[in-house]
Amino acid sequence: MSDLRRANRRLWNEWSDDFQAIWRSGTDEGELPPAPSPFADDAPGGPQPGILDSVEGQAYVELGCGGGQGSVGTAELGADPVVGVDFAGDQLQYARELREEYGVDAQFVQGDVTDLPLPDDRFDVASSEAAFQMVPDLDTALGEAHRVLREGGVFVLSVPHPLNEALEAESGTVGGDYLDPGPREITIDEEYDEVLRTFDRSIADLHGALLDAGFAVRRLIEHQRHAVEANEPEETDLPEVLWRVPQSVRFWAVAR
Ligand SMILES: C[S@@+](CC[C@H](N)C(=O)[O-])C[C@H]1O[C@@H](n2cnc3c(N)ncnc32)[C@H](O)[C@@H]1O
Repeated sequence: MSDLRRANRRLWNEWSDDFQAIWRSGTDEGELPPAPSPFADDAPGGPQPGILDSVEGQAYVELGCGGGQGSVGTAELGADPVVGVDFAGDQLQYARELREEYGVDAQFVQGDVTDLPLPDDRFDVASSEAAFQMVPDLDTALGEAHRVLREGGVFVLSVPHPLNEALEAESGTVGGDYLDPGPREITIDEEYDEVLRTFDRSIADLHGALLDAGFAVRRLIEHQRHAVEANEPEETDLPEVLWRVPQSVRFWAVAR
């Protein structure tokens, strides 16, 4: 494991308690915390029935699963088996707790997305939400996603939109450089020993890397925030400029 990946893993173990507290912040006592699946009707961009009818009975892996929300939500939709992989042990503890709360079947495995501890051609469906932007060697990670999928398997890759990442939210100007792939350092908390390092790859670079890894890209979605879609700006105190750019980019790809 490279120094950069080791540092990012330390950061995620440090950040895990606070990060998962954000996930649970809107949950009332006695309610289940959210576990949104990327294949649910209300997922960003919606389902893509022309690419994948249903996850029911499909073998599914979530890459960079964090607190397991995507894995648990997709198990709820009937995927089976379900495996979540993450390199941060503290995040996986939260994933296992969420699995118990929902009472679904899912296996959570510690591993790096660039070296998956999983066999070839094992899964019908894979997804990754907000994780691959932290991976220095994107080509290796995409190669691993392709390796564990059977031919014709579906991969949904979502990362923060690079334009969103290039904005200085407070001043409303472009602070970063859309064409600079990074790494960019982000201080999450002055108290933490580590900073977060991310790679803001352009849409063209992400698209090209998927093709080079052996995927056919069937759909590209530039997704706004849900509150923007619902036209409820008063629901958030985010700087206004963030309403005018997509929050994430999402590729629906098929393993060739
Ligand atoms: C922003 S969180 C997203 C987690 C989850 N998908 C979600 O939507 O909440 C990013 C996750 O990616 C994991 N991660 C980052 N780089 C990784 C790598 N190389 N291998 C495995 N997991 C990684 C981190 O540990 C963290 O849990």
